[in-house]
Formats: sequence, C-alpha cells, structure tokens
Amino acid sequence: MKQHISKRLLIGGNWKMNGTREASTLMLNDLVTAFEPLTESVDAAVFVPFPYLQHCGNLIRGSGLLLGAQQVSAEANGAFTGQVSAEMLLDMGVKILIIGHSECRQLLAESDELIGEKVAISVSTGLSVMLCVGETWQERQAGHAEAVCRRQISAALKGIHLDHMGAIQIAYEPIWAIGTGRSATPQDASISHASLRKDIEELYDPALAAATRILYGGSVNPANATSLFAQPEIQGALVGGASLKAADFASILRSASQATSSRPN
Ligand code: PGA
Repeated sequence: MKQHISKRLLIGGNWKMNGTREASTLMLNDLVTAFEPLTESVDAAVFVPFPYLQHCGNLIRGSGLLLGAQQVSAEANGAFTGQVSAEMLLDMGVKILIIGHSECRQLLAESDELIGEKVAISVSTGLSVMLCVGETWQERQAGHAEAVCRRQISAALKGIHLDHMGAIQIAYEPIWAIGTGRSATPQDASISHASLRKDIEELYDPALAAATRILYGGSVNPANATSLFAQPEIQGALVGGASLKAADFASILRSASQATSSRPN
C-alpha cells in the first residue's frame, strides 16, 4: 500500500550569525503581518541567534511563527563553558532546533555521533529538531551522495525511539548548494528526498517514513521556491540568505502555502 506523504509544508528561516536587535525587530514585524493569512496552510520557524531569542520570542508571540535556535549542547548541564542546554532553550520559549548543519559539522568539527547525542537530548527535553544532512560536491561527483546521507541520518537517529520521531524533521542540504546561489534541481532534490525516506523506512517503518517531513535547503529563493515545492517529496525549505529579507521570505512562504493547497489530501 502506498503510504500518505505529509502534505503541509514547513519553512524555516536560518538567520545564521546575522542581524542586530533593530534589524530583527523590523524583520519580524513585517513577517508576522505576512504570515497572518498563511497560518492555516503552512508552518514556519525563524532560527535566530542566541542573544536575540527572548526579544524575537516576544515579537512573534501569538503569530504562529515558531521560535527556533541554531545550536544546542549534547550535555544536560554542568561545567561546559559557553554552551547552552536544551532545557534552557525550552525555558526561553524555543520550539525547534537546527542540529547537524553542515557549517557546524565542518567549522566546529561536529561528528555524526555528537549530532546523534544532540538530537536525543533535544527530543527527550520536548523540543522539535530540524536535522540537517547533505553531501559535498566531491561526494556527489563520486556517486556517494546517498551513502553519505544514509550514514548521517542513521547516526543521528540511532537510539531515537519511534515515539519521538514526530518531533524530527529532516533538512536535505547538499553542501555545494548552501550559500552558492546554485540550488539542486527540483528533480535531483526529489531523488535525494526519496532516498532519505527509504532510509527512514528501513530504520523505522513505512508509515513513519511517509509522515516525516523532509525539507530541502541550499540557495532557496523566491524565484526557485515554486518549482521546488511542486515536487511532492519536498515538504518545505530551510532558507538561509533569502530569510534575511522579509519580502523574500514572505514570498517563499506564499509559494509554500500554494503548494500545500494544491497537494491532494
Ligand atoms: P542558503 O542557506 O539558503 O543561504 O543557501 C541554507 C542553509 O544553510 O540552511
């Protein structure tokens, strides 16, 4: 039997290490207004820098926009200078976390194992997770893209009980597409998503694999969003650069809303 693939799209804005308090205020005031007519048809999150979490949380309260953070410690508490725990983030009103972003894997040398620990502590604390996976250009050229993603997803979900999987979304983010202006084609992204879904099916079961949202990330912008979202395998986007302009992010949200509405029930 063909399982039903999740219909409602999720769009995340990954601000990375950008912005000021003032810029966040302007941005979120515009975004809250733009999101208001779309709340029924699309989910949206903003992943803001740690210092602005409280401020941004206040600005989006009641809007339906989810407050997201970009990092978390794998430890519960203790002598870990500079780190922030899942419990603290929950306490600040955070709903969802980016874990395993390629910039953290590469620049902070985060291992598959560490990422798995971060996922585990986050979901058991009650947070949702946006788990990022993706291959380098060299890995893709060598025909290893699917194997790399399978390794990353298996390690990250190791020990995650089926009951916690509803809190996890996957972001397929090919590293060569991040911040380069060179997005994966909708067809290539769709093939990678189908392969990731198969991995989840093997780790869990077909119903769970179908229900898990798999987002695409890497140079998503207002011009390519509609064609990406035309692929049923793509259940949303993690957006970096284009999430820093309210008008661009709002345009991507509208494309996602239209895609949700045009997908069969
Ligand atoms: P980009 O970033 O949209 O600027 O390519 C995506 C991401 O890093 O999540």
